[in-house]
Amino acid sequence: QFPLPIPPVKVPTATIINPVTNNPIDYYEITINQFSANVYPNKGNATLVGYDGISPGPTFLMERGREAVVRFINNATMDNSVHLHGSYSRAPWDGWAEDVTTSGQFKDYFYPNGQAGRFLWYHDHAIDHTAENAYFGQAGGYILHDPAKDSLGLPSGYGQFDIPMILSSKQYNNDGTLFSPAQETTSLYGDVIHVNGQPWPFFNVQPRKYRLRFLNAAISRTFLLYFQQSTGSTAKLPFQVIATDAGLMEAPVNTTSLYISMAERYELVFDFAPFAGQNITLRNTDDVGADVDYVNTDKVMRFVVSPTAVTDPSTVPTALTTLPFPPALAANRVDHHFEFERTNGEWKINGVGFNDVANRVLANVPRGTVEIWELENGGGGWSHPIHVHLVDFKVLTRTGSTRGVFPYESGGLKDVVWLGPGETVRVEAHYAPWDGLYMFHCHNLIHEDHEMMAAFNVTALLD
Ligand code: C2O
Ligand code: CU
Repeated sequence: QFPLPIPPVKVPTATIINPVTNNPIDYYEITINQFSANVYPNKGNATLVGYDGISPGPTFLMERGREAVVRFINNATMDNSVHLHGSYSRAPWDGWAEDVTTSGQFKDYFYPNGQAGRFLWYHDHAIDHTAENAYFGQAGGYILHDPAKDSLGLPSGYGQFDIPMILSSKQYNNDGTLFSPAQETTSLYGDVIHVNGQPWPFFNVQPRKYRLRFLNAAISRTFLLYFQQSTGSTAKLPFQVIATDAGLMEAPVNTTSLYISMAERYELVFDFAPFAGQNITLRNTDDVGADVDYVNTDKVMRFVVSPTAVTDPSTVPTALTTLPFPPALAANRVDHHFEFERTNGEWKINGVGFNDVANRVLANVPRGTVEIWELENGGGGWSHPIHVHLVDFKVLTRTGSTRGVFPYESGGLKDVVWLGPGETVRVEAHYAPWDGLYMFHCHNLIHEDHEMMAAFNVTALLD
């Protein structure tokens, strides 16, 4: 009954000059503050804390090659730290968990915007409180646009035919306020599915192609998405996946369903042309991983397709880009092995938690090297989407289940990989371009807050 909100575009307040390169830098200011909004229909307001007082926050539309500085002003009461997920930010601006900005302070973050075009997101990363902060509203989209790719002819126009689809799953109290994840120690799956902050919305579309940029911003729930006609056939409708976490894939992948775990991004093109005058439902599958399902967690949103035919100038070419995949290495080479497990009620990586400051640097990687990391799920039936900061990786193998690596995972570069129950996954990355201390962790934010996070040190090359 409620339309899909499209987060507003964030506009820079000034342009400054980089004193070293003389290039322009766009300067933005965002305030983090508490606000009240009616989110759950027919209930009272929820109290949220978000970027510029909305949730999700405003969307940044950045151009590749144009640097940016964003001042995040903390006018809320909780400490925060901002991570631009998907950016190869220098360590001081990467949102290190202990580098918190307290109430009344601000911090300026420098974003190089030099990577391939992609859908990133910015979210809180404060030590021990990331789940709460992201869930109560500190998350937003960030589109890095590469003008060199415009000639592909993909559906375009932010909010028009190029749509952010920020998924989350939360739980409400009877009065319409949010049930807090603060006391949770394992997961908060949530029974209310939101897209762009609205529970179960609808979206009016034309019978033509749309680029849908999905981000799973839920703190604990993984989705297995599919499209279906609202009446009539129950068949899962085909769509094309065109981009992963790190932007365009080399070629589109045709599929009828898509796993998207926490913090993963997939962009897909869905063609509504055959469905003029009909409704299309976006659904989630029950029993994904070990997630707990509720009555309506199999529903996501509805597309209402106009009956009026339109001409669709957009297209999905068979070749989208050329990716810098890391080179093939010796079979079975593993540079680091990390086990993600729950021991004595604590979430650990190789037995270490983030608050174990003396031991938490689990890898030293010389800058410029290519490494294969093996990620092992230590059991208990839990899912762990693993995120490595700084790099884009290739997913090489997934063993321990029947799933294997999906073509839409290996067809592009990623920065999060879902480690499902019983699985072991190998990922390969080029540890560059900067040195510095970076985090890697489980993106079930409750696991992350309860220690399932460690660091790796990209070490300087010696002369
Ligand atoms: Cu999306 Cu370390 O975070
Ligand atoms: Cu986990």
